Amino acid sequence: MRQFPHDFVWGVATSSYQIEGATDADGRGESIWDRFAATPGKIADGTNGNVACDHYHRWREDVELMRWMGLKAYRFSVAWPRVFPMGRGKVNTAGLDFYSRLVDGLLEVGIEPVVTLYHWDLPQALQDKGGWASRDTVSAFVEYADVMSQKLGDRVSRWITHNEPWCISILGYANGEHAPGIKDWGQALATAHHVLLSHGQAVPVIRANVPRAEVGVTLNLVPAEPASPSKEDHDACRSFDGGFNRWYLDPLYGKGYPRDVIDDHVAEGRLKSDTLPFVRQGDMADIAAPIDFLGVNYYNRGVIRSDRIPEAQNAPRTVHVSPEKTEMDWEVSPHGLTQLLVRLNQDYKPGRLYVTENGAAYGTTPDADGRVRDTKRVHYLRTHLEASLEAIKQGVPLKGYFAWSLLDNFEWAYGYQKRFGMVYVDYATQKRIPKDSAHLYRAVVAQNGLDVELAA
Ligand code: FCB
Repeated sequence: MRQFPHDFVWGVATSSYQIEGATDADGRGESIWDRFAATPGKIADGTNGNVACDHYHRWREDVELMRWMGLKAYRFSVAWPRVFPMGRGKVNTAGLDFYSRLVDGLLEVGIEPVVTLYHWDLPQALQDKGGWASRDTVSAFVEYADVMSQKLGDRVSRWITHNEPWCISILGYANGEHAPGIKDWGQALATAHHVLLSHGQAVPVIRANVPRAEVGVTLNLVPAEPASPSKEDHDACRSFDGGFNRWYLDPLYGKGYPRDVIDDHVAEGRLKSDTLPFVRQGDMADIAAPIDFLGVNYYNRGVIRSDRIPEAQNAPRTVHVSPEKTEMDWEVSPHGLTQLLVRLNQDYKPGRLYVTENGAAYGTTPDADGRVRDTKRVHYLRTHLEASLEAIKQGVPLKGYFAWSLLDNFEWAYGYQKRFGMVYVDYATQKRIPKDSAHLYRAVVAQNGLDVELAA
């Protein structure tokens, strides 16, 4: 029997800027994504999150969809500028109340709300003062976490401080593909540190406000393999794993920043010396505040080839890369999820793990009969759930799975061109249609296992 543990948490994930729209409603302040999307050339299709899925107004319908799917939990994020239009200071009660109503609506139908505090929509007012590259943003985040956990803590016990510190720091501040669109490694590394520090300092604050709190953080992680046995590929892989995974994991689990990656940064001229200028006494202990779980966002693995030597001088590639790709051009590699979870459990002993995001972009549209036959997403979902079950069999304390995403939505720099939803959204009418993948997921959740078939 391919059954999951009886208390396994089945959910879906979304984020505020990607679905809410209503960017001017009820006193919401400007976020860095409003500013970034309004800057010509930043979003592939020239769109923005002004309307998105209009979830701010249609949340009841979306909760109803989740009830229909039989979900146990819903991971959503709070738009910081709805609560603090200027980033800190005066609370905007109307914005705060939106989340309070959403939480009540979820609980009424038996769905547990799982709150992510930061999924990238920083108040622009804080960016104007340096954003995450500035240490002042750390205390602003802790104040925000305090207000949110006071307001919702009587009903929400599971909290995620940040979504994907790698994306916040590297996409936002090193290569500039995401808001705020800065290209400066010094700022990027300072950002990574301040994001981690704000996480660590928020943990005890949330615990103090929330009875039975379970607090964690979500990282996007990419298990990597060298493309060949050459020493160059091995070193490239070490460096990739270090910069992508260990730079965030090691400090969170009390190991400090990885020495070898600091050396890489110095060698690449990203750091002037091996003393990290943004680290102050006590920071590393703060960052390593004990957490209850680690959230893992998994999309694909990495097969790493060195660019240090010419291709012809490198050893032939020995790792087969599957030609199966999603529309993000990401390799479909379910086994990578098992490998990643097993490794995390071995190297960091996180106690509890949740897959807080996993999913695929495929642009399938409705057929003439109105049904959305997203066969490739169904396959992706099935194989990644198999991979999750395999990890559990190998002893990994995986406690839940949140599919990305409930709805097609605003996929950041790609705009609306990439559809990740299990529910199709017709943006012109805002009509929602559950795709085949939503039907499959509903059956899996109902059975708590994978021996399910879809109607032909
Ligand atoms: C993750 C993000 C999420 C979504 C997916 C596809 O990196 O957390 O918002 O964009 O990728």
